[in-house]
Amino acid sequence: MAKTANQLVFGWGNANADIVFVGEAPGKNEDLKGVPFVGASGKFLDELLASVKLERSDVYITNIVKYRPPQNRDPLPAEKDAFMPYLLAQLEVISPKIVITLGRHSTNCFLPGLQIGQVHGKAQNLNGQTILPLYHPAAALYNGSLRQTLIDDFCQIPALLKRIKN
Ligand code: URA
Repeated sequence: MAKTANQLVFGWGNANADIVFVGEAPGKNEDLKGVPFVGASGKFLDELLASVKLERSDVYITNIVKYRPPQNRDPLPAEKDAFMPYLLAQLEVISPKIVITLGRHSTNCFLPGLQIGQVHGKAQNLNGQTILPLYHPAAALYNGSLRQTLIDDFCQIPALLKRIKN
């Protein structure tokens, strides 16, 4: 996939962030700009962040897979496995209070076997790390009820962060 992509999209944001968002893989716009979540789903993510008084520069945003998959296909299991050590190294350096997984691919990399429909918005503990699985903004963008669910789940972030910090 490195051959078909324009560039590696490593991540963007605050290296001291309390919150790290983990999406699936860069899309067309991300591949062109070298920054995660800059297309339509990124615009929605910015709105969601603003709804809880956060800006991009307050958080860190990355993806499981750091190259755009050819034709935007789903990342293959081997591709996700290959990038996992880099994601874990990012998390070790940033050491966030919450890892927010966006969508089923990202969620299942941390919490295999869980259904996003059942665990979205419910904080999980993985070896002492809080993981908050949420729907992917792209899935929720054009689906009214998922959109509202994602907005509602997002609202919990400040209280969850406060709880973990205290
Ligand atoms: N979708 C993702 O999962 N990641 C991006 O960076 C953009 C869209």
